[in-house]
Amino acid sequence: MPQMKAIGFTQHLPISDPNSFQTFTEEIPTPKNHDLLVKVIATSVNPVDIGVRGHGRGALKQPKVIGWDAYGIVTQVGNKVSLFKKNDRVFYAGSFIRSGSDSEYQLVDERIVGHAPMTLTPVEIGVMPLTSLTAWEALFERLRINRNAKAENAQKTLLIINGSGGVGSVATQLAHLAGLQVIASASRPQTIKWVKQNGADWTVNHHANLVTEVRKLGFHYVDYILNLNDLDGHWNEIAELIKPEGAVCAITENKRGIDLQKLTKKAASFNWEWMYTKSYYHTDDMISQHEILDRIAQLLDSGDLHSTLTKSLKPINDVNLKEAHRLVETNHMIGKVGISND
Ligand SMILES: NC(=O)c1ccc[n+]([C@@H]2O[C@H](COP(=O)([O-])OP(=O)(O)OC[C@H]3O[C@@H](n4cnc5c(N)ncnc54)[C@H](OP(=O)(O)O)[C@@H]3O)[C@@H](O)[C@H]2O)c1
Repeated sequence: MPQMKAIGFTQHLPISDPNSFQTFTEEIPTPKNHDLLVKVIATSVNPVDIGVRGHGRGALKQPKVIGWDAYGIVTQVGNKVSLFKKNDRVFYAGSFIRSGSDSEYQLVDERIVGHAPMTLTPVEIGVMPLTSLTAWEALFERLRINRNAKAENAQKTLLIINGSGGVGSVATQLAHLAGLQVIASASRPQTIKWVKQNGADWTVNHHANLVTEVRKLGFHYVDYILNLNDLDGHWNEIAELIKPEGAVCAITENKRGIDLQKLTKKAASFNWEWMYTKSYYHTDDMISQHEILDRIAQLLDSGDLHSTLTKSLKPINDVNLKEAHRLVETNHMIGKVGISND
């Protein structure tokens, strides 16, 4: 059987440990049914990579290969594949329960894959899928913002808590395109500049009290809140700032209990977004991730959306993967770090 290189781990070690990632050899898998076999050309690191690598105990029997974002070329297709063919350029964020993109080749279900943009470099593309899917689903599916109702949206305010990270950098652009008034949180001169470049109308500092910060801008309440960091820490501010009948979406799990009763009198809704839900449960609308990524590719090609790449490493190897993990672990990323073989 043909072999490939993959980077993975057998123990959950700190990233500074020389054995936190190792390169090993395994068989190239064969695609069946709806699967594509993709030669991975670019990938990126998200906080989920840090969580899965870092949290866990004991030694694993098999090396675990993670990595979710990917850009690559289709080299083989399964017998039920209808959306793609060999040599297609693709991008995707993969599944939580399958082997990841930190490898030369990877299997992925065609229903969660998009045709790659034509005008960007591999590493610019490779940083986009996971954060774009998360931001799109949060805004347009969970918060139910109608992205085509620009005139109506222009009357509405959205507060994005963590505007400068991976997800916030795409969410700010998408919300701006949909016509919303966007208040994005950023705490440093570089991040304030970055979120404004992404289309934020106002900025607030998430390390200060957000109620005071937002009210200083002249808004008593906001129509929508998208929470992208430290839900526990920001919960009381969210409950205070959300408009009666408004909607909140969070993407980060709370560590303690959050008191939903704080939203009762306002009849405000609370929604979770988990980018993996569709592929994890094979939901009826799983193919919508294919459609979203195709739409994201069009927006990137038309220049309506720009890549959030801020740091590029090459090639894809254990040294660069460790460096990308180290950067994301700081919790101070601006935009995204990508790694490519291109
Ligand atoms: N549910 C899902 O599907 C999903 C998908 C993607 C990500 N996530 C989760 O969402 C979170 C954000 O992901 P990401 O990729 O956007 O993160 P990221 O790029 O690592 O976020 C880094 C940014 O977070 C800001 N930050 C730090 N502490 C903060 C705080 N207390 N409040 C607000 N912002 C703060 C930092 O700004 P300063 O340096 O200026 O403080 C930094 O710019 C992670 O926890 C990730 O696991 C969930």
